[in-house]
Amino acid sequence: MSYPYQIKSLEEYNSAYKKSVEDPEGFWENIAENFTWRKKWDKVLEWNFKEPKIKWFINGKLNITENCIDRHLKTLGDQPAIIWEPNNPEERTRVVTYSRLHKRVYQFAQVLINNGVKKGDRVCIYMGMVPELAYAVLGCARIGAIHSVIFGGFSAQSIADRLYDAQAEFIVTCDGAYRGGKDIPLKSIIDDALIGNRIVKRVIVYTRTRTPISMLKGRDVWWEDEMEYAESQIEKDNIIRMPATEMDAEDPLFILYTSGSTGKPKGVVHSSAGYMVWTNYTFVNVFQYKPGDVFFCTADVGWITGHSYILYGPLSAGATSVMFEGIPTWPDAGRFWDIVDKYKVNTIYTAPTAIRSLMSYGLEPLKGKDLSSLKVLGTVGEPINEEAWHWYDENIGKGNCPIVDTWWQTETGGILISNLAGITPAKPSWATLPMPGVQPVLVDEKGNEATEPDEDGLLKGNLCIKAPWPAILRTTYGDHDRCRTNYFATYEDLYFTGDGALKNKDGYYRITGRVDDVLNVSGHRIGTAEVENAINMHAGVIESAAVGYPHDIKGQGIYAFVIYSHMHIDEEQTRKDIFQTVSRVIGAIAKPDKIQFVNGLPKTRSGKIMRRILRKIAEGETKNLGDTTTLLDPAVVDDIQKGKL
Ligand code: WTA
Repeated sequence: MSYPYQIKSLEEYNSAYKKSVEDPEGFWENIAENFTWRKKWDKVLEWNFKEPKIKWFINGKLNITENCIDRHLKTLGDQPAIIWEPNNPEERTRVVTYSRLHKRVYQFAQVLINNGVKKGDRVCIYMGMVPELAYAVLGCARIGAIHSVIFGGFSAQSIADRLYDAQAEFIVTCDGAYRGGKDIPLKSIIDDALIGNRIVKRVIVYTRTRTPISMLKGRDVWWEDEMEYAESQIEKDNIIRMPATEMDAEDPLFILYTSGSTGKPKGVVHSSAGYMVWTNYTFVNVFQYKPGDVFFCTADVGWITGHSYILYGPLSAGATSVMFEGIPTWPDAGRFWDIVDKYKVNTIYTAPTAIRSLMSYGLEPLKGKDLSSLKVLGTVGEPINEEAWHWYDENIGKGNCPIVDTWWQTETGGILISNLAGITPAKPSWATLPMPGVQPVLVDEKGNEATEPDEDGLLKGNLCIKAPWPAILRTTYGDHDRCRTNYFATYEDLYFTGDGALKNKDGYYRITGRVDDVLNVSGHRIGTAEVENAINMHAGVIESAAVGYPHDIKGQGIYAFVIYSHMHIDEEQTRKDIFQTVSRVIGAIAKPDKIQFVNGLPKTRSGKIMRRILRKIAEGETKNLGDTTTLLDPAVVDDIQKGKL
């Protein structure tokens, strides 16, 4: 595999960037030529941000799995596509070559067909990090079914909401999943999610943990039986290579739910061709991938990072991708470094929260681990603080590995702002420069472009993007207007990211964090409204307000102010009960770190909660709380401050 579009120097970056802005259609057409198409496009791009309507590679026909698998078979058939590291280091590793991946994917595609799945149907995937998860995702893509992967940490209620929103008729799951010392009973959670559901017709269950599970006749089938049957069919009918379904460039590839400022997660929809081109282009350029390199992205496929940089980006580039079932701290905090050593990993791509957590164990877990194979380090998901950056640089990269700080979002499909490893000079805590095709702009509240630098020479504002790149979201599932109001209506003709940023005189960007009511806890996006809805479900709770506060390891923690119906409660017990409720409604990832019981919340005369004040209190600010004169009852603020945890 060669990558003629791989940028090799800063000059090449500058000229690629310039061309991408002056002639986006010509620029992306040249790159798209490097993929396998059943039919080429008639026109490269049509767009407006008003509706929004965004179409790339119009009337092009392709199947993304042919690009991720089939086209590599001749030259890379025996090369590992996925190296799977089990949760338990004593268990056998599995190496899935491109030929094997091909076979398993078309076999599972046949299973889907046998179970009645058709192009355009929604298939919910709720599995642990096993190779079968990759087969399930790619099997869907093979026949044009729309996959919607749900992270294994979400609760039955969250799954039920997502299933309903996507009107999904099919589920692929596991009996259970191993994560560190825990077994998560995935199938039993699915069973709970399906109580009262009349839409799901089939649940395919892969055996991983052998946890006892109930299998409902007529609805639930075993993965293993289905695969065996598909294999016999394939042999009998001599279908050597089940042909992939021809997809239009703009046919939806997947839905991925993500949090916003409202109480209900949105189903972000990505299309086939644009997403493929973008994940491949950014993978090859940001990480400077060289054929034969071993790439280890530590994310879960339940999040966008896993979709784009464990599966689609690396596989479309014929890369070797490490998939890890477990967690960084089990059986000890040296696990990532064991994996790097064991597979001679060349690039590790992880979240600042993981780095901070591993930092807290000191250097002992690094002893005896050979990290000399590493060439590039990456981070994603949240701003990286300088201390963590330097720790990563010194102790993991040994000062020899460029660190790429990649800024992007579920909605952007792939990396938008990042240095290119070894090419763009890095600056700790700065995501640096936009990828070719990305035109960022910083605006003030009114949408005016920031033009006046502050005394440090920095521009400051809300981060927007002026024009579409190939992997921009196309819609939010089932509600296009929601897509418009969320991302395209705040500022005219701009995509609004929800993040704030700084820009220096070199044109480098530094992301400062969300400017909306979205929290970033351990690199996971959670809306404050979602957390509040969950807390309010608890029987005794009258009202609540959740805000973020700086947390040493998680980046942000959740601080909840709760009005409870009775005055005299056992606070500890009630806190635990509320945690339990939040775990049930959303999942353990949304559990507040602190719950303070209060008598009232600071509200304006129109009844709006002044979160700004609560945020300041949660951050530990005692004096400058800002203007409190517009409050209905300014005394509640003193009261809350007195009870601060
Ligand atoms: C934040 C994850 C600073 C940001 C890929 C964004 C970052 C949100 C960075 C998206 C970074 C992501 N520096 N902040 N390098 N990368 N973010 O959708 O606030 O889970 O809006 O996508 O994470 O989170 P999401």
